Amino acid sequence: MISEKNAGIMDLVEKFQSRIDSGEFIEPKDEMPDAYRQHLIRQISQHAHSEVIGMQPESNWITRAPSLRAKQILLAKIQDEGGHGLYLYSAAETLGISREEMISQLHSGKAKYSSIFNYPALTWADIGAIGWLVDGAAIVNQVSLQRTSYGPYSRAMVRICKEESFHQRQGYEIMAHMMAGTKDQQEMAQDAMNRWWWPSLMMFGPHDSDSPRTHNAMKWRIKRESNDELRQRFIDKTVQQAEVIGLKIPDNNLKLNESTGHYSIGEINWAEFQNVINGNGPCNVQRMQHHVKIHEDGAWVREAAEAYKRKRMKEQNTYSA
Ligand code: 3HC
Repeated sequence: MISEKNAGIMDLVEKFQSRIDSGEFIEPKDEMPDAYRQHLIRQISQHAHSEVIGMQPESNWITRAPSLRAKQILLAKIQDEGGHGLYLYSAAETLGISREEMISQLHSGKAKYSSIFNYPALTWADIGAIGWLVDGAAIVNQVSLQRTSYGPYSRAMVRICKEESFHQRQGYEIMAHMMAGTKDQQEMAQDAMNRWWWPSLMMFGPHDSDSPRTHNAMKWRIKRESNDELRQRFIDKTVQQAEVIGLKIPDNNLKLNESTGHYSIGEINWAEFQNVINGNGPCNVQRMQHHVKIHEDGAWVREAAEAYKRKRMKEQNTYSA
């Protein structure tokens, strides 16, 4: 005999799933299964962490940009990424988690951020590769996420995607410029391509067959397309872009299937992927140390803002009393 409480839960879950299946957006005040809420908190907060940590490899090149124009574009891009992080933290907060809790989960290692940002940006060509490949991969993923079932996340994606396309184009322009340049510049661009290509493919997550979250993510229409579908879309688009500017994809197994129009690739190094997300990538320690230091340095700003908020609320209470 099902207890009344369990019958109530089953009823909520069934009603919720039928809303999802009919393509409705779920909003913060709507009833939702806790598992849906927790899945979203994890994905959105990790997405936000990725945007903010992703500012680090690029900001190392602000003082070394090769021209004032390049510096202005890079500054604008990095500023965008910080804003994307804030949209996404705000979207996650609508699910009931505080900013402090999310930052604490990041610092304790309980929360992840995208493995790609644990690789170093060694030359100016890396800034091109990051914009073209990393933001290019992010766009493919985020355009799909515009149709995610959670309203605040979907709306954040619509806003973010508008800016990401500028990021991808500025990266591709850097790579095209270098490939039209001297032999040294061409070699620098190809070296960056060789180092960023495979980690960019890892951004889409493990293969669908190895992805523990994909089943629920698809059932709840959090994800609208699978990791492998989105990865394939990115590969098909990017291989052609590389060919146009003369860059070679660092994969001897790359092959175009004439009948499907899709490129098949060699095996992704999932041992490297796991090693990096387990904290052993080239820059994991540096990225986290920097984030912790900057967060601590900024404590006084948060305290001042909180004090001002309390003062204003006290004044308003005084006037309204
Ligand atoms: N780096 C770090 N962790 C990764 C990862 C990666 N590249 N790919 C997968 N993972 C993690 C997942 O978070 C999950 O960990 P968890 O269970 O502890 O949360 C685990 O590996 C299993 O992977 P799944 O595929 O089963 O998990 P998901 O269904 O969540 O799919 C995802 C992974 C495709 C990254 C998905 O979470 C997603 O679409 N997230 C939103 C987009 C995002 O976070 N992008 C990160 C880059 S943001 C960016 O590049 C900004 C740009 O402006 C530069």
